[in-house]
Amino acid sequence: MSDAFTPNPVTPYLKPPRGSEATRPEPRSLFESSPPDLKVLAELSGQNVLYSRQFSFQQVAELCKLAAFLEQVEIWPYHPLDGKIVTTAFFEASTRTRTSFESAVHRLAGKIISIPDGSITGAKKGESLQDIGEMFNAYCDCVVMRHTETDAPKRILQNLRVPLINAGNGSGEHPTQALADWYALLKWKPRLAAPFETGDRRLQMGILGTPGSMRAVKSFLLMSLLFADHIEKVTVISEMADPFGKDVTESLNRADIEYEVTNDIRESLPKLDVIYMNSIAFLGDSYKALDARYKLDAESPLKKDAVILHPLARLDELDTSLDKTPHNLYFSQAHGAVFVRQALLLAVLGRLDRLPEFS
Ligand code: CP
Repeated sequence: MSDAFTPNPVTPYLKPPRGSEATRPEPRSLFESSPPDLKVLAELSGQNVLYSRQFSFQQVAELCKLAAFLEQVEIWPYHPLDGKIVTTAFFEASTRTRTSFESAVHRLAGKIISIPDGSITGAKKGESLQDIGEMFNAYCDCVVMRHTETDAPKRILQNLRVPLINAGNGSGEHPTQALADWYALLKWKPRLAAPFETGDRRLQMGILGTPGSMRAVKSFLLMSLLFADHIEKVTVISEMADPFGKDVTESLNRADIEYEVTNDIRESLPKLDVIYMNSIAFLGDSYKALDARYKLDAESPLKKDAVILHPLARLDELDTSLDKTPHNLYFSQAHGAVFVRQALLLAVLGRLDRLPEFS
């Protein structure tokens, strides 16, 4: 590790709006008693990041600890991604994912080739993703791709030989969103980053949405299975009788976790510690609002200490009256994404050796 530079020990990035009670957990407690284990993170070097289930509990915990460290320091003076080029190729709209990945690369002093709209590539002329992947091999060291089609990662990987990070593929998965979700939760309850011990309180987890059709909800639920020991029960509140589909049902049944499906939000809400919600799904060829009748606002019967996660963008299912309440963990979730994406890029690009000492 380099010790050539003393970092600026500030937290410059999370500035709460004036008057807000929104929950913004302080990152330090996540890593100070147990610094990130870089040997575990080195396992990710050169790997594609395609879905939540590829991660182990320890990899997620260590990524989140490293993110908490990165949230505490100005890292760019160490130039950890010097000489590395990341392409962001977005064939579907994004506010947070593309800009937070690009912010992460800039803060790590790497370089970006930004394709904010796939229709400016040869795809507009009918070029295949296979051929685009072959070209990217010569241009960059890593590709972050979002696409409307679920099989897009499989197609580009036929020729791509640099690591691919899936930034959302149709109704498939959004694994780095799940990392951002769990980073927010681990900052809120740092005990979740360690194996369950007698005396720990298990969480009642609620999901408002349809995991089978919503990639962010699916990736969150599947990553939650790594934390099954810390979870009392998962309650999925959906307008669909089977909100999972075959794949997710099989994963749930393999995991040692209790779950239920209901459409009764009034009965469920007062019991929940964590509520994950979403309504926008990319289905077929357009966006659809599912489960839009389930709405939360500041008058909803929430437990006093309950926190709400939402991958955003939101429609009217998540009322702005919640923004200034302690239930709001969703702004912390969105802001923290830049740091967990920094941690992931450092691991995937093999640059963990450029970090300063943890303190
Ligand atoms: N959470 C998320 O994926 O947001 P964007 O669609 O804005 O990237």
